[in-house]
Amino acid sequence: MYKKTVLIVEDEFIIANMIKMALKEMGFSTAAIVSTASQAVEHAKADKPDIILMDISLAGPIDGIEAARQIHDCCDIPLIFLTSHVDDALIERAKLTEPFGYLLKPFQEKDLQTHIEMALYRHETQTKLRELNRTLENRVKEELEVSRQKDLLLIQQSKMATMGEMLGAIAHQWRQPLNAVALYVQDARDAYESGELDAAYMADMVTSVLEQVNFMSNTINDFMNFFKPSKKRSPFNVNTAIKEVISLVYDLFKKADITITLTCAYPEAVPKPCNDQIDQICVCEPELEVNGYKNEFKQVILNILCNARDAIAPNKEKGIKSEGKVAVVLSRIVGKVKIEITDNGGGIPAELMGRLFQPYFTTKGADGTGIGLHMSKIIIENNMSGKLYAANGEKGSIFTIELDENV
Ligand SMILES: Nc1ncnc2c1ncn2[C@@H]1O[C@H](COP(=O)(O)OP(=O)(O)OP(=O)(O)O)[C@@H](O)[C@H]1O
Ligand SMILES: [Mg+2]
Repeated sequence: MYKKTVLIVEDEFIIANMIKMALKEMGFSTAAIVSTASQAVEHAKADKPDIILMDISLAGPIDGIEAARQIHDCCDIPLIFLTSHVDDALIERAKLTEPFGYLLKPFQEKDLQTHIEMALYRHETQTKLRELNRTLENRVKEELEVSRQKDLLLIQQSKMATMGEMLGAIAHQWRQPLNAVALYVQDARDAYESGELDAAYMADMVTSVLEQVNFMSNTINDFMNFFKPSKKRSPFNVNTAIKEVISLVYDLFKKADITITLTCAYPEAVPKPCNDQIDQICVCEPELEVNGYKNEFKQVILNILCNARDAIAPNKEKGIKSEGKVAVVLSRIVGKVKIEITDNGGGIPAELMGRLFQPYFTTKGADGTGIGLHMSKIIIENNMSGKLYAANGEKGSIFTIELDENV
């Protein structure tokens, strides 16, 4: 049977040998007897005994407490101090090495046995606990990684869903300028046939066509930027971010008879100069600034706007004759920026309210993935430390985002 090994550190030869004999009777084997601190550290490292009995006052410049400290730092071996001193300061120093026992000399064999067995038992329990902790830690890490992967997949899926929306918006925004270019070309042919195609006509046409082409090119750039993930958390202006999203979908919503408004409801807000011809929607100043991920935030706004449109559309199909309205209201309350998006699409049935933000919850059948709001919540609450919640208003739902204001 395997006998537990004991390293005896004791500079008094007779005592060391008495301990050795006692250990033999108890069924332990003595790994070595050493009399100095440096030998003790060396043996502990080389032989890895199961337990160490350490005298405090040793021959040589270093005492047993310092030896115990060095062993504690390098090796996981339980240690019991043997000493004839009961000095408080010594005990305090000894404590720092986290010994498994402190036995006063002279001691009875029985005491020694009890101390050793208790120390071995405690050490074993501690080792098991540590292993258990490590296993648990690894489990938690694995689970976190699995859930992170799921989040990534969700983000990807939600991007694909949004991409569909965006393609629709691009197609819409391109139709106008494409038609215009087609008209210019036909007009040029007519002008040529009737002999009106002179230098001035050409110059005029080139300018007009390039204007349309530029517009199309800018639209593409806007969309490309929209899909780039924001690299790091950084300050951005909420007003502008929201305006950018609204501009992308404004025409498309208009086509579905839905108007979007953006209002600033904080007292110091004044309208920002705005070109009604170009800007579908105007912002106000001073802008509210938050810290976070601008593109992801824009995706959240887009999700909520598209949901509002989806809620309004069926009412129109049913012939309910109210104009579709989506209102975005910006306000600030004690250090927080509040964004409320209200629609008149009829609201959310009470029994569904608790499930809106669950992944894959959708009432749109094959047309919805049910990720939009779940993703939005992750972005706002986990990534930007804010809040996103839903409620029913008078004519439809109200989605509210709260973020810490950057001041
Ligand atoms: N403004 C709203 N009015 C009424 N119901 C809403 C509104 N916004 C969301 N909902 C409900 O919440 C559900 C979940 O929305 P979510 O955006 O997560 O998924 P989805 O729109 O169904 O699909 P997708 O992942 O394509 O966005 C919707 O299916 C709808 O039933
Ligand atoms: Mg949605």
